Amino acid sequence: MGPLTIALTKGRIMEDTVRILESAGISVPADIHDSRRYILTSPDGKFRFILSKPTDVPTFVEYGSADMGIVGKDVLLEANRDMYELLDLGIGYCRMCVIGRPEMADATITRVATKYPRIATDFFRHRGQQVEVVYLNGSVELAPHVGLAERIVDLVETGRTLKENGLVIFEEVASITTRVVANRMSFRLKSAVIEEFCQKLRSVVPGGVQR
Ligand code: PRP
Repeated sequence: MGPLTIALTKGRIMEDTVRILESAGISVPADIHDSRRYILTSPDGKFRFILSKPTDVPTFVEYGSADMGIVGKDVLLEANRDMYELLDLGIGYCRMCVIGRPEMADATITRVATKYPRIATDFFRHRGQQVEVVYLNGSVELAPHVGLAERIVDLVETGRTLKENGLVIFEEVASITTRVVANRMSFRLKSAVIEEFCQKLRSVVPGGVQR
């Protein structure tokens, strides 16, 4: 059996992810933060890391291009792909919220702008509220100020983006952390190595939850 292929999320959670892997005794290439390569093999040859954009991690895992992935719950909820969720790493904590301008607290909601159309659609559908969900690829906080939408659905981490853009949280949709996922077939065929990998992570994640 070759190395276990793990898709890692480039960006905000990368540093914390690597820190957890290293403290769990999983060897990570020394140049993982600086390299421009997209595929890196661990010094012990046991792991192959694919460095991917967040939204592509579930795609690589579902199709079996990666045996496992480490990615935010926001991305998993939005992608809605078929895979196992094995662990909550407890890092990358943030909240998915319904946000708007404070002076529009009582406005009728007709349009909601978001980078997460599935999450937003599900949330308002469950509440029996008919709204048009408008997809934006970032800088979503603009939308309420330029007449695009009465609300946005977006992530809040420190709250700084909201504050600086004169917006407030009206409701919380979901609480988000970083998860470890596995391809269904790999989970059966490579169960021993996957279990060993998870066991190591569980030993360093405070309250590491098995899903
Ligand atoms: C995310 C999110 C908010 C911001 C929240 O955007 O969409 O805009 O971070 O963080 P804060 O509460 O700490 O200010 P990101 O930087 O990922 O870029 P994006 O606008 O392209 O989504």
